[in-house]
Amino acid sequence: MDNILLQVEKLNIEFHDHDVPERVVNHLNMELHQGEILGIVGESGSGKSMTAMAIAGLLTRHDMEMEGKILFEGKELLHADRATLRQIQGNDIGIVFQEPMTSLNPVKRIGWQVEESLRIHRPEMTKQERYQRVIRALADVELDDPELVYRKYPHELSGGMRQRVMIASAMICEPKLLIADEPTTALDVTIQLQIVKLLQRLNQEKNMAVLFISHDLSLVKRLCHRIIVMHDGNMVEAGVTQDIFYHPKEDYTRELISAIPKLEKIS
Ligand SMILES: Nc1ncnc2c1ncn2[C@@H]1O[C@H](COP(=O)(O)OP(=O)(O)O)[C@@H](O)[C@H]1O
Ligand SMILES: [Mg+2]
Repeated sequence: MDNILLQVEKLNIEFHDHDVPERVVNHLNMELHQGEILGIVGESGSGKSMTAMAIAGLLTRHDMEMEGKILFEGKELLHADRATLRQIQGNDIGIVFQEPMTSLNPVKRIGWQVEESLRIHRPEMTKQERYQRVIRALADVELDDPELVYRKYPHELSGGMRQRVMIASAMICEPKLLIADEPTTALDVTIQLQIVKLLQRLNQEKNMAVLFISHDLSLVKRLCHRIIVMHDGNMVEAGVTQDIFYHPKEDYTRELISAIPKLEKIS
């Protein structure tokens, strides 16, 4: 595989909101190929979300310092201007977060919200074309009766349905990369599995790369082709999923794996 979609080089992220700067991502190198599913695992606080936000161009606070390179199709994103980032966000890169309720606007209908990136990035589409595209996207994430869901408000849907809506919304412009940061953490176990299977199907059908961030190793094992293990802002280990699980090199990785509940290990 040499079709590199995303390349992160020597990424440092530091907070300067206290007397002493706090380095939350340290010297991170990684690459993601077209159509690949890459997992980032690690305990809470290890720097996974900061990495995801940096890649998505969402770390714009003035009290933070970032160094290194984030190349998306060779284009440098880390210090790109707002216009460049806006062009890429929601268009080439879609993002899904943990809690769909906070990302959805409670007073707007689902269809209007899923359509948002189309209004920004596809101004040439007519209203009718946008409607058709949204209906197709809702069907694509396996929501029954997409016409009905289109007219609903977020509170009228279950947590699992809302997360499907968020995925539809992130994918509406057919991005090359979907970043999913703990997309299943707020959901019941059976629903978590459904979402993972959905991401797997969408990855295969659309050849869309996925950066799947989770502290849940059993889900990562099911879904990801390759895995990066992070701890305290550092990359501890990286490799093909099978190697990470069956031949981990680092003690920290072994500890993470041994912490998976026994029942799930069988699967
Ligand atoms: N505003 C902030 N100021 C200082 N440190 C922060 C801030 N926000 C997050 N952090 C720290 O950044 C580190 C990485 O956080 P994060 O990327 O969210 O971890 P993860 O997603 O792996 O749980 C954590 O130690 C967290 O405390
Ligand atoms: Mg996080």
